[in-house]
Amino acid sequence: MATVLESLLFPVQLSFATRSGVPPSTATTTNTTTLPRWLRNLSSHKDQSRMTIGFAVPRRNAMALILSTFIFSKVGFQDIASAQTSVGFREYVDTFDGYSFKYPQNWIQVRGAGADIFFRDPSVLDENLSVEMSSPSSSRYQSVEDLGPPQEAGKKVLKQYLTEFMSTRLGVRRESNILSTSSRVADDGKIYYQVEVNIKSYADDNELAVMPQDRVTRLEWNRRYLSVLGVENNRLYELRLQTPENVLVEEESDLRQVMDSFRVNKVVAG
Ligand SMILES: *[C@@H]1O[C@H](CO)[C@@H](O)[C@H](O)[C@H]1NC(C)=O
Ligand SMILES: *[C@@H]1O[C@H](CO)[C@@H](O)[C@H](O)[C@H]1NC(C)=O
Ligand SMILES: *[C@@H]1O[C@H](CO)[C@@H](O)[C@H](O)[C@H]1NC(C)=O
Repeated sequence: MATVLESLLFPVQLSFATRSGVPPSTATTTNTTTLPRWLRNLSSHKDQSRMTIGFAVPRRNAMALILSTFIFSKVGFQDIASAQTSVGFREYVDTFDGYSFKYPQNWIQVRGAGADIFFRDPSVLDENLSVEMSSPSSSRYQSVEDLGPPQEAGKKVLKQYLTEFMSTRLGVRRESNILSTSSRVADDGKIYYQVEVNIKSYADDNELAVMPQDRVTRLEWNRRYLSVLGVENNRLYELRLQTPENVLVEEESDLRQVMDSFRVNKVVAG
């Protein structure tokens, strides 16, 4: 059962060992017709069912801001500073596939990036979000709890990440940590899982060196991966945010709002 679920969620061949030391999966073959990302095709029919609704999310009550500026000038100044750096959000609604989320309004959509939908931060190349889901014909999810408890789901998500980011280069090493897993019931009454992972990639600059001390290991990247998982329409959905750790520090509250806004919605049979 676990293998079946896993191959639906993570339809990638996992029969090789990873450099990170994570044990390979028991799944050895994949029916490519179940690959969600390959089934996704932004046909015009689909595009018509999508819409983007823009609206600003005011971070502060303007009156409170004015009052606090007036009464506590120091606090007021900080409020103004944070209000200026905050962004508005837009909502992305896919009625065809049945999901929605809010994203920072300055992010731009990238087509052909492989996911069902893909947005990225225009100023930070490595910061982006995507949504993917299992194929409608082959998945039979009742609840996200079909994945097991959040900790189990977290391990599957991490395995999927490491598979996707596998490097064939010599001297590349990945270090990964599940930072947190949690579940929550959103305002739609459905359970969502959240998984946070850190992955660091190290490379030996001189991997052909015979003597270990001649190798220079360098941190290539250090990223946070934030996933939200939900089930509806018998399908498993994943919203994923990827961002460099140093960017997360600055944008954490925005990214958390994106995660919290993710909803899976019943598709009305047409
Ligand atoms: C793959 O799955 C599809 C539908 O789930 C099925 O129609 C097809 O026969 C399968 N192919 C193989 C090679 O198992
Ligand atoms: C999507 O489907 C259309 C026709 O249905 C095809 O021309 C196009 O190449 C497909 N795109 C992808 C990414 O598979
Ligand atoms: C999304 O971000 C990841 C790293 O955070 C990066 O590796 C990937 O290339 C980005 N994708 C796009 C299409 O920009």
